Amino acid sequence: MQESDLHNLALAQRQPSTPPLHVAIIMDGNGRWATVRGLARVAGHRRGALAVRRVVEAAPKLGVGTLTLYAFSSDNWQRPPLEVAALMHLFHEYLRKETAECAANGIRIGVIGRRDRLGPILRREIEAAERATARGRALLLRIAVDYSARDAILRAARRLKPGRETTREEFSGLLANTIHSPACPDVDLLIRTGGEQRLSDFLLWECAYAELYFSQRMWPDFEAADLQAALDAFHSRERRFGTVLEAAAG
Ligand code: FPP
Repeated sequence: MQESDLHNLALAQRQPSTPPLHVAIIMDGNGRWATVRGLARVAGHRRGALAVRRVVEAAPKLGVGTLTLYAFSSDNWQRPPLEVAALMHLFHEYLRKETAECAANGIRIGVIGRRDRLGPILRREIEAAERATARGRALLLRIAVDYSARDAILRAARRLKPGRETTREEFSGLLANTIHSPACPDVDLLIRTGGEQRLSDFLLWECAYAELYFSQRMWPDFEAADLQAALDAFHSRERRFGTVLEAAAG
């Protein structure tokens, strides 16, 4: 293949930064939001659930086709048992209260991560929510619960067929399957709230070319306008996917 063909191929493979986009959010800062107000950390998580509602409602109007929210990492099991129980209760309540509205608004719910360590009642609620919203096409809402990117990659790798070449696309499919996710594109934009700047074992494979956006806002304060600001920043960036743009190619 000629060098110019390679260049054209690379350009053709660039995903355009046009909707529908895949936005992933590390919803950080619930605990600090509560602590500075003299409240228990759980109060921050409860307010965080209201922010989830706001963002889910705004996302499809802002050109987001897939929204992945980091709700509970596999390392979060190490938190105090009361906080873990409160979070599990919140996830259950969210699914119980929001599923009908999501179904009515074309929002497909998928819970990604491990299921085997979740309680049977939550598992049943997850399956019911996924069934009831399966036809939604306005937004794929993926909620990550008991999720670890490194564990997911390891588990997907164990399913590879020995001696057979696997393409990136095939591996992406295997990975999605491993975490119980419907097929979806790689992440375009990763947002982390709460002022910290790290990935915390979230979507490490799927974020290979994601743009990163860090917000000082604590998650319970996150509004639709903050999502809009993150998307504005995203659209102002030049995504090159390792190649050079035509004008600079010479
Ligand atoms: C991180 O903040 C947040 C979590 C571990 C939980 C996220 C959960 C929610 C937003 C609740 C509702 C979610 C759904 C999907 C209904 P942190 O507690 O680590 O905050 P800190 O860094 O200030 O301590």
